[in-house]
Amino acid sequence: MNLLDSELVASKLVQAGYEPCEDEALAGILLFNTCSVRDHAENRVWSKLGALRVRKEQEPELLIGVLGCMAQEHKIYLRTRMPHVDRVCGTMDFGKIDEYIAEIREKREGLVQTGDGASGDLVLRDVKQRPNRAQAYVNIIRGCNMPCTYCIVPATRGVEVSRPIAEILPEVEALVGDGVTEVTLLGQTVNAYGHDLPDKQNLSKLLRELHAIPSLRRIQFITSHPNFLTRELMETMAELPRVSRYFHLPAQSGSNEILQRMKRLYTREKYLARIRDLQELIPDMEFASDWIVGYPGETEEDHELTKSLMEEVRFSQSYVFKYSPRPLTVADDYFEDDVSEEIKARRNQDLLAIQNRISLEKNQALVGKVVEILLEGPSKKGEGRFQGRTAHHRIVHLEGVGPQQVGCYLPVRIEKAMSHSMMGQLVDEERFTMDSRDAGDEGILSA
Ligand code: 5AD
Ligand code: SF4
Repeated sequence: MNLLDSELVASKLVQAGYEPCEDEALAGILLFNTCSVRDHAENRVWSKLGALRVRKEQEPELLIGVLGCMAQEHKIYLRTRMPHVDRVCGTMDFGKIDEYIAEIREKREGLVQTGDGASGDLVLRDVKQRPNRAQAYVNIIRGCNMPCTYCIVPATRGVEVSRPIAEILPEVEALVGDGVTEVTLLGQTVNAYGHDLPDKQNLSKLLRELHAIPSLRRIQFITSHPNFLTRELMETMAELPRVSRYFHLPAQSGSNEILQRMKRLYTREKYLARIRDLQELIPDMEFASDWIVGYPGETEEDHELTKSLMEEVRFSQSYVFKYSPRPLTVADDYFEDDVSEEIKARRNQDLLAIQNRISLEKNQALVGKVVEILLEGPSKKGEGRFQGRTAHHRIVHLEGVGPQQVGCYLPVRIEKAMSHSMMGQLVDEERFTMDSRDAGDEGILSA
């Protein structure tokens, strides 16, 4: 969500005549889009802002702005602590970012805006301004109505507001018209989409409409809450082959006591039942989860239950977080952060070790097979390699391709498996069906 928000802000500023600057030291405007979800993310921003104090003294024309969740959370305090920040602009306001910058340049005085401005996605988007040729994020619902006791997001992003299908569809069509073949629909509770809209608009209906767009080959959506995974949605996913076969469904914990204290509103059994239902409908479905370790009151027994849920589902990916008390949350008000840092670190490692083993086993099972990847760009580790993703969201590195193939779907033979990625070799394209719709289990292509 933050990546898309940053992209939209950058797009708006380019439309207003500003130019992106590769070198921070040469930029005249510095905008920080921020995250409040854990303490660590905030601390990085505080120290970054602190370090800019001296530069601002020497360069008073430099304009510094803080956007997003930290701006929303701290509001005026942010400028009290960092008076050299010119602009504080919350999660519901950056639609007017160009006007705010013009205003501040005129008046040269600091302003805080966290209320009723515009975060409207259409206001901001120029479909030609995007970092990836073939892939795009599209926001479909903002805010969150869930009561998770650890989470600051409902306080910083406000209540759920869905965008009508009539607004999303032309945006996706325009993106596809400009070369996009993979869209990722975004929302904090993306599968609650539409409940606030008329005419029974929901995620199933939206997926069906998007699926009908020719040349849109992959449709993903993040992040889902288990309680809104309806039978209708599961059946729609099964029916529509271009809907991703990788599903991010955060469990957070495997212990019912902890789930209850987190107010996740489901039990381990209910979560597992949803997974099994979906596996029955879509046998090759892969799952990913978020987990919080060291939640207030989490015992060794609770932790063992989380480990066993991981083993039972055999997720293909896990994001593990150490509990971090956040202001404006129920957990911070009512529960003591009573699991030591040492224990949190150990439980974190425990879960990562299980996940790494499972991921490695899953990747090893693909060695020798040919899969279709969407080539995304140069590998993060460099060495002249490029990387792409399979229909199941697995990363494949390969050599022998160049920037001209970025955005293409390529058949690749898997040669080596690691836990976080695989190495592959491009195979003779002519011999393989190139449409992911024809791929069988595991997205394996037929010769
Ligand atoms: N501490 C640790 N992790 C958290 N998350 C959300 N709030 C907290 C917190 N206070 C994690 C959840 C969520 C992910 C985006 O961040 O696992 O799914
Ligand atoms: Fe936070 Fe829960 Fe909403 Fe996700 S569903 S954003 S964890 S409150």
